[in-house]
Amino acid sequence: MRGFNMLGTQVNLYYYSGTGNTLLVVKEMIKIFSARGIQVTLHKIEYTDPKKIDTEKAIGLAFPVAFQSTFPFVWNFLKALPQTEGTPVFMIDTMMAFMRSMHAVPQFLPS
Ligand SMILES: Cc1cc2nc3c(=O)[nH]c(=O)nc-3n(C[C@H](O)[C@H](O)[C@H](O)COP(=O)(O)O)c2cc1C
Repeated sequence: MRGFNMLGTQVNLYYYSGTGNTLLVVKEMIKIFSARGIQVTLHKIEYTDPKKIDTEKAIGLAFPVAFQSTFPFVWNFLKALPQTEGTPVFMIDTMMAFMRSMHAVPQFLPS
């Protein structure tokens, strides 16, 4: 799969999962990353200070769609991420059917 090389060997993955679907996806992704020699460290968004995250390593973000967007505390986390140059970032959204406003996310991401 394309894109794995740019992540380096370590990823910090920040996630929120209310009912477990996002965590399920995250666990499957960890298997895929591990098979490619990439070590993933999980962090719960609700317990993480976005100002203190490690921007030297690749960042993964995973959370559910809610109200055709996502939860306000997830938005707050995204908006508070530090600005960096060149930190690889990827995002995973889980949802039931549809969403409307996640296209706004990239402007808040570190790089
Ligand atoms: C309060 C709430 C609002 C939701 N709003 C949407 C929505 O607008 N669109 C959608 O497709 N799914 C919506 N869902 C479904 C979740 O995005 C979906 O079940 C997701 O996989 C849940 O992830 P989790 O189990 O990690 O919490 C909503 C779920 C909840 C609890």
